[in-house]
Amino acid sequence: MQRSKIAGIGYYVPKNIFTNEDLKKYMDTSDEWIQERTGIKERRYADRSGETTTTMGVEAAKIAIERAGITPQDIDFIVFATLSPDYFFPGCGVLLQRALQMKEIGALDVRNQCSGFVYALSVADQFIKTGMYKNILVVGSEKHSFGLDFSTRGRNVSVIFGDGAGAVVLQPTDLSTGQGILSTHLHSDGSSAEILAMYNPGTHANHWLPQPVANFDDAEIGEMFMSHAMIDEAQNFPNMDGPAVFKKAIVKMPEVVEEALAANGLTTADINMLIPHQANLRIAQFVQHKLKLRDDQVHNNIQKYGNTTAASVPIALCEAWEAGKIKKGDLVCLAAFGSGFTWAGALIRW
Ligand code: UT7
Repeated sequence: MQRSKIAGIGYYVPKNIFTNEDLKKYMDTSDEWIQERTGIKERRYADRSGETTTTMGVEAAKIAIERAGITPQDIDFIVFATLSPDYFFPGCGVLLQRALQMKEIGALDVRNQCSGFVYALSVADQFIKTGMYKNILVVGSEKHSFGLDFSTRGRNVSVIFGDGAGAVVLQPTDLSTGQGILSTHLHSDGSSAEILAMYNPGTHANHWLPQPVANFDDAEIGEMFMSHAMIDEAQNFPNMDGPAVFKKAIVKMPEVVEEALAANGLTTADINMLIPHQANLRIAQFVQHKLKLRDDQVHNNIQKYGNTTAASVPIALCEAWEAGKIKKGDLVCLAAFGSGFTWAGALIRW
């Protein structure tokens, strides 16, 4: 049996900086409110003339592939995590395969929102451990800026999110090196699926929605997927009960870290670097406090990029590594929580 190790890592964020002051042009909000409640100062928005979830993923992937010392043609499997795909279908995995002119390899899309990258990493890890693949590209990428409600109605959601992408290349490593992904831990609780969700377009047939689409029962067959009523009611934008998500996140994120440590006979004192999903700086601080971690054991960058959902963990991981905060032999812990609810953790010996 072998482990998988991160052989290359990269990230990409768009050049366009959107500050809290810029958001004030569209909605009733303030820099003070956003910084106090979320820690966010600014975020990046994709260039309107061509940057997409896939193209940002491609840029991050190119760096990860180069750092792994291989070429796109050496990749034998793609796992692409996003909640903001270029198309409803097909997924971004095949678009990336095409853009990087890869071989006719498998391409899998993961739809697990904020925990998507850790889920994707876990899937890739299993394929490496069984010996099925040797060079797996794992990508988390999001273009939120095209799908947010920028009116005051949507301000609790739209001020949080930003665009960007991160990627890693996983390769096998011998157990004797001690290096690599030690374990991954995946969880879900669908009882609160509608608490953080984008309902339309979708095939839910108006079931379960806290605010059902008004005239759905009278809709013509061709209007059930996307109708004027759905747009009028802003159901094509994400909905979130922020405080409910917050309360669950501050319990489940530390829990999954403890679970990962216990599975490997380790304690919080052994962690060199925790990369928490960048949902809200206050959530990350709660997690740090609960786990009694020092500031130098946690890396946050939400101040600059906002919440980039499936991209947040690989961007923060890469940034911490580039800054020299993660060195060979270090114990790195990833933890994420989000819509679904789904949450996940991973422990890596770097
Ligand atoms: O990434 C995965 C999942 N997402 C999360 O983990 C997000 C978790 N939740 C949160 O981060 C926080 O709940 C938010 C940042 C979304 C909101 O912060 P909060 O402290 O929970 O505020 P709240 O939703 O309870 O709203 C408090 C007040 C409300 O006004 P009233 O009713 O007290 O008059 C909101 O209307 O703040 C108002 N508000 C805003 N005011 C200015 C909500 N959004 C804004 C805004 N600017 N952008």
